[in-house]
Amino acid sequence: MKSVIYQPPYMNWASGALRGAPLICKTTHLGDLPSVFANDIAWRQSDPRQPVYRVEMFESPSGEGYLYTGVTHLHPGLIGDEYFMTRGHFHARREQGEIYFGLCGEGLLLLQDEQGKARLEQVSTGSVHIIPGFTAHRLINTGSGVLSALAVWPSLAGHDYAALAQGFALRVVEQGGQVQAKEVQNG
Ligand code: PA5
Ligand code: NI
Repeated sequence: MKSVIYQPPYMNWASGALRGAPLICKTTHLGDLPSVFANDIAWRQSDPRQPVYRVEMFESPSGEGYLYTGVTHLHPGLIGDEYFMTRGHFHARREQGEIYFGLCGEGLLLLQDEQGKARLEQVSTGSVHIIPGFTAHRLINTGSGVLSALAVWPSLAGHDYAALAQGFALRVVEQGGQVQAKEVQNG
C-alpha cells in the first residue's frame, strides 16, 4: 500500500536550524543599515560587510491563508553603546499579527504601536511573543551569543520599513555593563 505519511520540514529547537524543505535566506550587513543606529559616526567607522542578522525561512505560496515560518539569527555586537538589532517594521497590511518564539540567546523584542507607544519584552529560550496587528517590531540582542527567534506570520502581511524611518521611540544601550532602555525624542 502506498504510504500517506509525509515527512514535514524540521527545525532544531536548540539552534533554529531549518531543513527538509526549500529555504529563502537573507543576510543583512551593517552597511545595509544606514540611519538605524543612533551613533552615525560609530556606524560609519564599522565594517559595512559585517553580518548583523540572517533570516532563514521556508518557501511558501503567498496569499490569503498562507503562513511564513522563519528564524532570525541576530549576532551580538554594539554600534557605539547601542546593541545590534534588526531594522524593524510594521506590516504593510497593518492589521496582520505575528508570533515570535525565543530559541537561544538573550535579547529584547521592541514593540511599538501606531501612536508611538513602545514597550519591551524579554526574549529567552521558550519565550512566546504575541505581536498584535498595528504593532511594529524589532529584535535586539543584549547577550554575548547569537540570539535566534522563530517567527510565524501571514505571507500576505508584507513589510513597511518606511513608516519607521524616524526610528523607534526607545533605544536599548549598554551603560556600565547594564542593559538600559532610553526614551528617544521624536522617535
Ligand atoms: O517577519 C518578521 O518580523 C521577521 O522575520 C523579520 O522580518 C526579521 O527578524 C528581520 O527583521 P526586519 O524585517 O525588520 O529586517
Ligand atoms: Ni514582522
